[in-house]
Amino acid sequence: MGILKVLFYLIFPVIHAFNDCPVSLCGNFSLPIRFPFTLEGEQSPYCGYPGFNLICSNQRNSVLELPYSGEFYVRNINYLTQQIQLYDPDNCLPKRLLSLNFSNSPFIATFSRDYTFLSCSSQKNIGSQFIPIDCLSNSTYFVSAIPSVNLANSIPGSCSVIKRLLVPVARQERFGENIKDNLSADLQLTWDKPDCSYCETHGLMCGLESVYNNQVVCMSDYQAGTSRQGLKIFRIIALCITGPALIFVMLMATCVCYNDRIANITRNAASRSAPAAISPQPDVIIATGLDESTIESYEKVVLGDSRRVPGPNDGCCWICLSEYNSKETIRSIPECKHCFHADCIDEWLRMNVTCPVCRNSPAPSPLNVASSDV
Ligand SMILES: *[C@@H]1O[C@H](CO)[C@@H](O)[C@H](O)[C@H]1NC(C)=O
Ligand SMILES: *[C@@H]1O[C@H](CO)[C@@H](O)[C@H](O)[C@H]1NC(C)=O
Ligand SMILES: *[C@@H]1O[C@H](CO)[C@@H](O)[C@H](O)[C@H]1NC(C)=O
Ligand SMILES: *[C@@H]1O[C@H](CO)[C@@H](O)[C@H](O)[C@H]1NC(C)=O
Repeated sequence: MGILKVLFYLIFPVIHAFNDCPVSLCGNFSLPIRFPFTLEGEQSPYCGYPGFNLICSNQRNSVLELPYSGEFYVRNINYLTQQIQLYDPDNCLPKRLLSLNFSNSPFIATFSRDYTFLSCSSQKNIGSQFIPIDCLSNSTYFVSAIPSVNLANSIPGSCSVIKRLLVPVARQERFGENIKDNLSADLQLTWDKPDCSYCETHGLMCGLESVYNNQVVCMSDYQAGTSRQGLKIFRIIALCITGPALIFVMLMATCVCYNDRIANITRNAASRSAPAAISPQPDVIIATGLDESTIESYEKVVLGDSRRVPGPNDGCCWICLSEYNSKETIRSIPECKHCFHADCIDEWLRMNVTCPVCRNSPAPSPLNVASSDV
């Protein structure tokens, strides 16, 4: 076994390097950073897609800089639906919205709504939909943002228009809904390119095909970081020179690694019983999910009136994107504690062995987090 392993690493440094685009963390365990995002200084730029570079601040916040709109903190990234949730470091998102400009950035609004920003000198006689935006208001003027349709051409005399603009919003309004807010909720954006939805829904890693173009391909976790162009050429040459004997070695070696992988998985997650099968042929993976008894062994809770879920991803289920309601059954993944509707995650786990949010199988133990924090 040991000799084979050495041989394997000598002949296939390519595969040995599978870990060169590791999932990174910037202080926050619930925000794994991986393709198309990269964390500056932790991952090489070819691990990500242009425009998706994040910086880890001194306070260990993940920071995204939009070319014309400055820095935002990242609250969450949904790799499955390709959405990112941003907030303002100074807690005054409405101020940032006034100068938002997505030029030269891969991000766009998921939905947008036409808002008029008004500055009013008096709060009298102007209606309840004028909710003051505290951080833009002062003792003499208060600023408010109203959906332009609600204004219906009647701007109160005590107010003047600051700006009218399309504001990114998290969802479309329902018919007849009367929107009232001060625009302080997180900024929710999405991206079209790169499109990794196929890889993500199939439990595969998305990555750049080569360092020379921006094509993306799906890889098993195992191959991620290995199929870069230069390395591919090396593999072709190696195969040409050594011929069929290599196929035998490769088969054996893959078995060795597969065993290692199983050992790894069982060591880190005793509860898992059916790890993904890795086929020896590059670029092909047969992903099998977990069996029912393993899925059933994962913690399940019925939400109470507070609708608080026990995991880090609060608010809505990141598979179906609908909000949690009381009396709904939630299941959490043991290693990372991410929560989902039981129906949603059960279906997912029947086909995949990884958590759809962090994709770690198993998630890094707290020990790993501590050491990557240094
Ligand atoms: C990590 O993220 C969670 C949820 O988004 C948040 O409550 C927590 O404060 C964050 N921790 C740090 C250290 O940023
Ligand atoms: C965004 O900024 C660029 C560069 O300053 C400018 O050319 C463009 O017109 C701006 N777009 C909007 C919508 O303001
Ligand atoms: C927006 O309203 C919420 C409560 O409704 C408040 O906590 C928050 O400070 C307000 N934000 C701004 C910027 O006015
Ligand atoms: C309040 O804000 C307005 C602009 O919105 C500004 O003209 C005015 O000088 C400010 N007043 C004070 C007391 O800061």
